[in-house]
Amino acid sequence: MKLPRWLPLFLLLLATTTSAVDILPGATLSASDPNSKWTSPNNTFALTFVPDPTAASPQTLIAAVTYNNITIWQAGPTTNSSAVLRLLPSGDLQLLPTPTSTTPLWSSATANLGVSAASLEDSGNFVLKNSSGAAVWSSFDRPTDTIVPTQKFNTSHTLSSGLYSFKIQTNGNLTLSWNNTVIYYNSGLNSTTNSNLTNPNLDIISTGILTLSDPTLSSPQNLAYASDFDGEGEIMRFVKLDNDGNLRIYSSVKGSGTVNPRWAAVSDQCQVFAFCGNMGICSYNDTYPICGCPSLNFEFNDVRDTRKGCKRKVELQDCPGGETMLQLDHSKFLNFQPEMTFQGISACRLNCLVGPCIASTALADGSGQCYTKSSNDFVVGYHSPAIPSTSFVKVCPPVQPNPNPSLGLSGGDGRNRWRLRAWVVVVAVLASVIGLLAVEGGLWWWCFRNSPKFGALSAQYALLEYASGAPVQFSYKELHKATKGFKEKLGEGGFGVVYKGVLANRTVAAVKQLEGIEQGEKQFRMEVATISSTHHLNLVRLIGFCSEGRHRLLVYEFMKNGSLDNFLFTSDSSEEQSGKHLNWECRYNIALGTARGITYLHEECRDCIVHCDIKPENILLDENFHAKVSDFGLAKLVNPKDHRYRTLTSVRGTRGYLAPEWIANLPITSKSDVYSYGMVLMEIVSGKRNFEVSGQTGHKKFTVWAYEEFEKGNFEAIVDRRIYGGEIDIEQVKRVIEVSFWCIQEQPSQRPMMGKVVQMLEGVVEIDKPPPPKAATAVGGGEGSVAGNSVTGSSFSVVSTFAASMPLPSSSSSGKLGDRASSSLLYSETK
Ligand SMILES: *[C@@H]1O[C@H](CO)[C@@H](O)[C@H](O)[C@H]1NC(C)=O
Ligand SMILES: *[C@@H]1O[C@H](CO)[C@@H](O)[C@H](O)[C@H]1NC(C)=O
Ligand SMILES: *[C@@H]1O[C@H](CO)[C@@H](O)[C@H](O)[C@H]1NC(C)=O
Ligand SMILES: *[C@@H]1O[C@H](CO)[C@@H](O)[C@H](O)[C@H]1NC(C)=O
Ligand SMILES: *[C@@H]1O[C@H](CO)[C@@H](O)[C@H](O)[C@H]1NC(C)=O
Ligand SMILES: *[C@@H]1O[C@H](CO)[C@@H](O)[C@H](O)[C@H]1NC(C)=O
Ligand SMILES: *[C@@H]1O[C@H](CO)[C@@H](O)[C@H](O)[C@H]1NC(C)=O
Ligand SMILES: *[C@@H]1O[C@H](CO)[C@@H](O)[C@H](O)[C@H]1NC(C)=O
Ligand SMILES: *[C@@H]1O[C@H](CO)[C@@H](O)[C@H](O)[C@H]1NC(C)=O
Ligand SMILES: *[C@@H]1O[C@H](CO)[C@@H](O)[C@H](O)[C@H]1NC(C)=O
Repeated sequence: MKLPRWLPLFLLLLATTTSAVDILPGATLSASDPNSKWTSPNNTFALTFVPDPTAASPQTLIAAVTYNNITIWQAGPTTNSSAVLRLLPSGDLQLLPTPTSTTPLWSSATANLGVSAASLEDSGNFVLKNSSGAAVWSSFDRPTDTIVPTQKFNTSHTLSSGLYSFKIQTNGNLTLSWNNTVIYYNSGLNSTTNSNLTNPNLDIISTGILTLSDPTLSSPQNLAYASDFDGEGEIMRFVKLDNDGNLRIYSSVKGSGTVNPRWAAVSDQCQVFAFCGNMGICSYNDTYPICGCPSLNFEFNDVRDTRKGCKRKVELQDCPGGETMLQLDHSKFLNFQPEMTFQGISACRLNCLVGPCIASTALADGSGQCYTKSSNDFVVGYHSPAIPSTSFVKVCPPVQPNPNPSLGLSGGDGRNRWRLRAWVVVVAVLASVIGLLAVEGGLWWWCFRNSPKFGALSAQYALLEYASGAPVQFSYKELHKATKGFKEKLGEGGFGVVYKGVLANRTVAAVKQLEGIEQGEKQFRMEVATISSTHHLNLVRLIGFCSEGRHRLLVYEFMKNGSLDNFLFTSDSSEEQSGKHLNWECRYNIALGTARGITYLHEECRDCIVHCDIKPENILLDENFHAKVSDFGLAKLVNPKDHRYRTLTSVRGTRGYLAPEWIANLPITSKSDVYSYGMVLMEIVSGKRNFEVSGQTGHKKFTVWAYEEFEKGNFEAIVDRRIYGGEIDIEQVKRVIEVSFWCIQEQPSQRPMMGKVVQMLEGVVEIDKPPPPKAATAVGGGEGSVAGNSVTGSSFSVVSTFAASMPLPSSSSSGKLGDRASSSLLYSETK
C-alpha cells in the first residue's frame, strides 16, 4: 500500500505539537513580558508571573501556576521587575532576580538529577521529568497554600500562609496552627481515632468533598463537604489556607472567574488565633469580623491594616503612677493551654495587677476559673455579647475606654493599688446597700406581686426589653399565669405543645413548652439569643423565653390565623370550613413570603440556618394572611437521644417533605429545605398533601401525577378546585408549578437556591422546563420501609451554619438519622 507523501511530515508535526508542551532546558519566563507563560495542554492552567495577591504593592511578583486568576502554586515573591524563571541545562528550575544573575531567589534543587524537560499537566501539576518521563520534582509535592483535585496531601506536606500552617497528622487529624506553636483547630474523623494511620492522604474530590484515605481504612472517609457539593464537571474546587488563618473549600464555576468559599474549617473567624494580631480584639459588625484595640490606651500598629494588632500608647514601664486594669466585659483572650486557676473575678483581676501578668480572663460561668497572659505571650482577644467571661488588661492610668458603646469594652476602676483598697471598701459598702435594697425589694414584691399595679410595671419593663430587640426572660410562674395554667392549646409540633397566652402588657403570645431539653442553661440562652436575633418580616418573632429548672419555654408572637395546613387541607364537605379557602392571589403571596423568609435564613443572616422542617404546619399566617416561617433554629435545643418527643411528632405531617438526602444519608444542606419548600409549593397550588394517592390522581402519587398533567399542559387539573370560582392568573400558576418541580429535583445541585426561587416566582428570571422529579417515586412513594425507618427521626431539624452543615462521616452503616443529627451537632459544637 502506498502511503500519502505528506504522512511522515504530518506525523512529525504531530510529534512536535504534542511534545511542544514539554519545556526544555534553557526555557525562560520573564516577569517583564506579561505574555510569557507556560500553559497546560488544554489551557486550563498557566505558569506565569503575576502580582502577589497578598502583597500590598503591585510591584511584588510571584511565579505562579494559576487557574483563571487563582494561584495554586507559587515561587517567590520578588520585587524585581526583571525577574525570570528558568529551567537551567543542569536541570535546576530557578527564580532569578535578573536574566544574568547567578544567585537564585528560589530553586527546585534538582541540578544533576537527570531532569531533561518540564511540563505543566492538565491537572495543574508542574513537573520536572527525567528522560524516561518519571517525575523528579513536582509542584503537587511542594504545595504552597492550595490543594486541587487529584493532588495528594500527606503527612510530609504542609500548607502555609504567613505564620499559619495546615497539616494532616499521623492519626488523620487535620490541624491549623499559628507560628508552629499554637494549634487552634484540630479535628479528626471521630474522637476515638487516636491511633496512628499508615499513610493518611487528604484529597479534594472534584464534587466538593474533602476525603481522607488510608490503607487501613476500607474506603475513603468524608471529612467535609462544600455547601454546593455534587454538581460535578463545571465547577473547579480547591482547598486553600487563606492568609486570615482559615482553611476553606472554594468553588469556581469554570470560565466565570468568580470564586466562592463553600466551607471553612473554623466557622467563627474570631477563633482563629492572632487574626487581629497581638493585643487586637476581634468582634463582629453585622456580618464581618472586625479588629479593634482594647481601649484608647492603645493604638493600631498600622491604621491601614487593623489586623496587625495594637500597641500601648504608653509602655507599662513608663507608667507615671503605677499600673491599673482595664476591664473588658463579654470578652476573652484565646487560650489553648488549659492552664487555669480557681479564683473569683476580682482575684483574677487583682492577681494580674500585682503579678508579671499583662492580661487575664475570668470565666463568668460560676466556675471561678481564671487564666493569665504574660508579657511573652501573644495576646489575642475576642469580644462578643455571647461571651460570658470578663477580661482585664494592664494599662497605664487613666483608663480610656473605647467611645463606641457597641463594642461594650468598658473601662476599669482604680488608679493604683492605694486607691484600689479604698475602692474595695466602697464596693463592699455599696454591695451591702444593694443587698439590703434587694431584700426589701423582694419583700415588697412578695407582698404586692398580685396587685395590678405591679403587673403594669412589669409589662412596661417587658415592653422596653421587647422594643430593644433582646429576648425577654419570663419566669415559669408568669407564663403559667399568662396561659391560664396552659389551658388553651394552639397546636402540637415536633418540639412540644404550643399554648395561647396573654402577657402582662396584654400582648397575645404563643407559648411553646419545649420537650426533651437536656441542655445546660448557658447553651440554651445562647441558642435563644441566636434565634431572637434573626429578624425578618416573614419569620415568626421570638419575644422571650423561660429557663427555670427543667422548664424550657419559648414565647413567640401570636399569629391570628394559625398555620397554613388548616387552610389547605380542609375537606370540602365541612360547612364551617367553606369560608377558609384562600384565593389564588393570597396563596401566591404566601408562597412568595415563605420563600423570602427561608431565603433570609439561608443567605442573608450571619449564621445561616438550615430549617430542616419546612411544612405547612410551620408556616403561620398573621391577620393579613402574610406568611411567617416558624420553628427555625430549634434543633440544637433538643437532645436527639431523647425519644419522647418523637412520639409527639405528627408523622403524617413531616413525611413527604423530606429531601432524598435524609434517607440516603448524605449531608443536609440548604438544598434540603428547597426540596421541602417545593413540596409545600405544590400543596399551595393543589390543596392536597403531596404524598396523597387517590382515584383522582390515577392512583399515582400526587407529584408524579401532577408532572404528567404538567407535561400535557394541563395546569388547571393541578389547581385546587375550591379556587376555581375566583380570579386565577394562569401564567403565575404555571410559574409556581414549574418552580415547584425544580425544587423537588432529586439531585440537590439541580435545585435552585432559595434566592433564585424568589426571583423565579416573581417572574424576574426565565424558568426552563423542569425535568421530571425522580425523587417523587424514590422517596415519597415509599410507604413502607423508607417511611417507617426515617420518618420517626425526621423532625429533628438540624441547625447549622453552612460551614458546619456537614455531618462527620458516620462509619456506621445503619445510617440512622438520629445518629447523623447528633454527630453534626457535635461537629458544630466542637468548634
Ligand atoms: C534587581 O536585581 C538586581 C540584581 O540582583 C539588583 O541590582 C537590582 O537593584 C534589583 N532591582 C530591584 C528593583 O530590586
Ligand atoms: C483540561 O483537562 C482537565 C484534566 O484532564 C479536565 O479536568 C478539564 O476539564 C480540561 N479542560 C478543558 C477546558 O478541556
Ligand atoms: C527516571 O527516574 C526514575 C524514577 O526515579 C528512575 O527509575 C529511572 O531510572 C530514571 N531514568 C533515567 C533515564 O534516569
Ligand atoms: C507523601 O507523598 C509523597 C509523594 O507525593 C511521597 O514521596 C512521600 O513519601 C509521602 N510521605 C509519607 C510520609 O508517606
Ligand atoms: C514565633 O515563634 C518564634 C519562636 O518559635 C518566636 O521567636 C517568634 O517571636 C514568634 N513570632 C511571634 C510573632 O510571636
Ligand atoms: C483528633 O481530633 C479529635 C476531634 O475531631 C480530637 O477529639 C482528638 O483529641 C484529636 N486527636 C489528637 C491526637 O489531637
Ligand atoms: C471512628 O473511626 C474509626 C475508623 O474509621 C471507626 O472504626 C470507628 O468505628 C469510629 N467510631 C465512631 C464512634 O464512629
Ligand atoms: C504515632 O506515631 C508517632 C510518631 O511516629 C509516635 O510518637 C506515637 O507514639 C504513635 N502513636 C501511637 C498511638 O501509636
Ligand atoms: C484577572 O485579573 C486581571 C487583572 O488582575 C483582570 O484584568 C482579569 O479580568 C481577571 N480575569 C478573571 C477571569 O477574573
Ligand atoms: C463590616 O465590616 C466590613 C469589613 O470591614 C465592612 O465592609 C462593612 O461595611 C461593615 N458593615 C457594617 C454594617 O458596618
